[in-house]
Amino acid sequence: MKRSDTSDLWWKNAVFYCADVETFYDWNGDGTGDIRGMEERIEYLCDLGVTCLWLMPFYPTAHKDDGYDIIDFFGVDPRLGTHGDFVELVRTARSCGIRVIVDFVMNHTSDAHPWFKSARRSKDDPYRDYYVWSAKEPKSTAKDVVFPDEEDSLWELDPRTNEWYLHHFYKHQPDLNIANPKVQEEISRVLGFWLELGVSGFRVDAVPFLFARDGVPGDPGVFDPFEYLGDVRNFVTRRVGDAVLLGEVNLAYKDQKSFFGGPDGDGLNMQFDFIGMQNFYLSLARGDARPMAKSLRQRPSLDITSQWANFVRNHDELTLDKLSDDERQEVFDAFGPEPGMQLYGRGLRRRLPSMVGGDERRMRLAYSLTFSLPGTPVLFYGEEIGMAENLDIPGRLAVRSPMQWTGGPNGGFSKAEKRRLTRALPGGLFGPDRINAADQRHDHESFWWFMRNLIYTYRQQPEIGWSTVEILKQPNRAVLAHVCRESSGWAMVGLHNFGAASCLVPVQLPDVPRGSILVDLLDGLSEHELDAGGGVELDLDAYGYRWLRLRRPGDEPII
Ligand code: NOJ
Repeated sequence: MKRSDTSDLWWKNAVFYCADVETFYDWNGDGTGDIRGMEERIEYLCDLGVTCLWLMPFYPTAHKDDGYDIIDFFGVDPRLGTHGDFVELVRTARSCGIRVIVDFVMNHTSDAHPWFKSARRSKDDPYRDYYVWSAKEPKSTAKDVVFPDEEDSLWELDPRTNEWYLHHFYKHQPDLNIANPKVQEEISRVLGFWLELGVSGFRVDAVPFLFARDGVPGDPGVFDPFEYLGDVRNFVTRRVGDAVLLGEVNLAYKDQKSFFGGPDGDGLNMQFDFIGMQNFYLSLARGDARPMAKSLRQRPSLDITSQWANFVRNHDELTLDKLSDDERQEVFDAFGPEPGMQLYGRGLRRRLPSMVGGDERRMRLAYSLTFSLPGTPVLFYGEEIGMAENLDIPGRLAVRSPMQWTGGPNGGFSKAEKRRLTRALPGGLFGPDRINAADQRHDHESFWWFMRNLIYTYRQQPEIGWSTVEILKQPNRAVLAHVCRESSGWAMVGLHNFGAASCLVPVQLPDVPRGSILVDLLDGLSEHELDAGGGVELDLDAYGYRWLRLRRPGDEPII
């Protein structure tokens, strides 16, 4: 890691925080969160240690997919605010050292978007080729649909012109035809617009569908989606040199590789590690670290500018689609046994705290591991206080309930009458009277302070984000012992116990000079000597975790 690289490649040791404007904080008291409200809470995020805020869609929408069905890519949903509010938010965030990235959702538009309304009028409408049409009935695609509860095909017959249009998601979200140069020009203009308003990049929605041409009828194969991804990356970084593209690519590792681009990483800068996330839950369910260890061993190494985004939870269903049927069932049995907790046969609509019955030891284990791995952590709002879901809210939205700020009415989210709230808060064990930011910020033993300390420690060791990982052999299958190493010689051992029994963990670091010690970064910098062979035995609590940085003789003291 070169010091001079760390500011350009800022995303390699950032702390991302995903928030939905609509459910974060209602500033004007109308029951819906707003951009002014988000601005009001920037200091909170700054205090937590967040360095990059990812805003879920806040654009004008047809309200059928929580904002992912957009009717104007350049606009701001008037319920949430104005462009003026947006610019102030970006400025305020920047003044607190927080960058803002926004969701980029141009795989599709809403069917209420003016382009689609025009396109469906006639076969020779000027916007017709903005979308993908088939004159013949396409073969069955029932097995490929993303939302099997509502769709049974990727194609919908449009009666007016008697042709089918492609929609990878809902039928009200027709796919854009990105092979069309006119659509590419629109994409550039949208990206360019938000960059000009100060954003530091984009979370790119649905990448494998956006940059793909599978199943497009009559495609002469001239258009290369990966080449086009490279063009988009070039365009974005020409406009703002250090802008980031963080892509949603839920594919096997081998298929993710090409979305990072060629050997120089000229595609997406970052991708979520869906495989690691799914195996983490399997390990947690089994009390066995081996699935997690296996996925870390398989995780492809990346070029210097690329990065993994590590996460415990995102805003969708907690997908377990890459596990085998039996493995998925194990996770369902452990963490979401009731049908109402599951979704699409592949995922859970719960957050971690309720899955583990509020067991903070397992919650801390999850985030300790996430922050200790090579990569950049991405939090979903409310994770820092251990918020759960509200299963009374339908489908994926169960985990998008309002942020719980206080124990007061509406959890301090809004002063509106309860019935006017955009979404209902949960009650019971995870309701705002028990789980809220205000109480936790006053209590240094709280989950919020645990998270703040974790973020602080991660930020103090930028090498973590830049490192590569190696798994240390362990006699106890409940224990994951990993070493992060960085080219400067910096190294850190992470120990995580997935088991309910405390244990002793043998750590063996080959090739360390005599007199080296391990310094416990999460426990008052306590020191542990390594023997002549680089070995030491350390204890680990039930569901315990430790971060131990190597200090060789002659290394600067860790301050
Ligand atoms: C992926 C997003 O994460 C999800 O929430 C959305 O429904 C689909 N893309 C369609 O935009």
